[in-house]
Amino acid sequence: MNDKSTNAATKATDTATLTDNRNGRAFEFPIIRGTTGPDVIDVRTLYGETGMFTYDPGYTSTGSCQSKITYIDGDEGILLYRGYAIEQLAEHSSFMEVCYLLLYGELPSLSQRDKFENDITYHSMLHEQFNYFFRGFRRDSHPMAIMCGAVGALSAFYHDSTDITNPRHRMVASYRMIAKMPTIAATAYNYSIGQPFVYPRNDLSFAENFLYMMFKNPCEEYTVNPVLSRALDRILILHADHEQNASTSTVRLAGSSGANPFACIAAGIASLWGPAHGGANEAVLSMLGEIGSKDRIPEFIRRAKDHDDPFRLMGFGHRVYKNYDPRAKVLQQSCHEVLDELGARDEPLLGLAMELERIALEDDYFIEKKLYPNVDFYSGIIFRAMGIPTSMFTVLFAVARTVGWVAQWNEMVEDPSQKIGRPRQLFIGETRRDYVPVEERV
Ligand code: SDX
Repeated sequence: MNDKSTNAATKATDTATLTDNRNGRAFEFPIIRGTTGPDVIDVRTLYGETGMFTYDPGYTSTGSCQSKITYIDGDEGILLYRGYAIEQLAEHSSFMEVCYLLLYGELPSLSQRDKFENDITYHSMLHEQFNYFFRGFRRDSHPMAIMCGAVGALSAFYHDSTDITNPRHRMVASYRMIAKMPTIAATAYNYSIGQPFVYPRNDLSFAENFLYMMFKNPCEEYTVNPVLSRALDRILILHADHEQNASTSTVRLAGSSGANPFACIAAGIASLWGPAHGGANEAVLSMLGEIGSKDRIPEFIRRAKDHDDPFRLMGFGHRVYKNYDPRAKVLQQSCHEVLDELGARDEPLLGLAMELERIALEDDYFIEKKLYPNVDFYSGIIFRAMGIPTSMFTVLFAVARTVGWVAQWNEMVEDPSQKIGRPRQLFIGETRRDYVPVEERV
């Protein structure tokens, strides 16, 4: 899938020195340069040389791998997929073309793109036996719970592509994963509303098919609105990959043990579900509903700044972006296009969101903390305008991010320097003590 060329990083020629001031011992570690972005200090030998671990909960200053897939500059608000700016891809590309780019590292030729799109289309159906799997869930199950279970269950259906050291097996599993996610997602939705499952159609694009499977019912024809399918295709592009975020790191860590690829993607879905991560788009809508009206915004801004109050402004802030999330800017434009198309320009939640954004961006706290709207701030408003229920918002994020997880998983499997992920710890518990029989305990 990805070429096996040597890592892009140049050989280490510079070093960083660590001095332990308790005994004056100095240790040197190589500095490795990438093609752009921060250099790294290679501390792989640190424990062997110093007897100490680094300590970085949340991995705020830790690089877990070398990668060629996605580059983010959080200070400049830059996001590149294989070197191409997200703004250009959102404007000129398609989700299928971006999938090819993320998987193979280059934009496809016309014939390569057509073949890739055809291969994905012809893997979009689910095994008929799989439909019985859904019927085990309660009808009111959260669709993300169903996604975790259903995607993990794919590992029980495909025994012909489980040798992850075999590039062809990895390609087959990767294509199946990308192709079947929208079908699983739409099936989870149809199951939750008690409607029959809808088969994908081979004459529709990826985004058109998803909307068709979501909203077609057997009693009438359904024609996909091209403005909505274009908006969805753009949203899928924007959410496709994002470097070593929590869910991608989860997929890499699960995959580092050689686990089944479908099971690894299920682990990524579980991580994405959290409201601090991909669950934020659903949480934004809930928050806007709780705020209710513009006159209550100051109350919630105050609560967001109160460290004794667990409330946070959902859709704001980011671990990496300390500037505007470039995806949020594109989504803001899409938001207006979709609402204009649907005649929902006066959508009250959009007006509330725009006023919240204006007030937050003028507030000293948010300016000082560099808390800008992120990708999740606008996506929920667009999804709601498109008729997608709030509980499906993170599911759509997972449908889009699957290609990123799969591309990063392949890169991890092919990286000769990768080994099973196994972090260490700073132990602060009880040191050794002897067992006390229960009769002698106080
Ligand atoms: C995604 O990693 C990725 O790339 C993720 C993602 C992707 O594409 O994969 O981009 C997708 O997950 C986007 C983020 C969606 N989450 C939200 O919108 C939830 C709200 N945001 C916060 O929970 C928070 O901003 C995080 C989780 C996104 C980032 O948290 P960090 O990096 O751990 O930062 P932090 O929590 O340490 O915050 C720094 C300061 C803190 O104040 P101090 O303790 O320094 O005084 O900023 C404050 C925080 O209290 N802060 C907020 C805030 N976010 C951070 N205060 C109010 N509202 C917020 N939203």
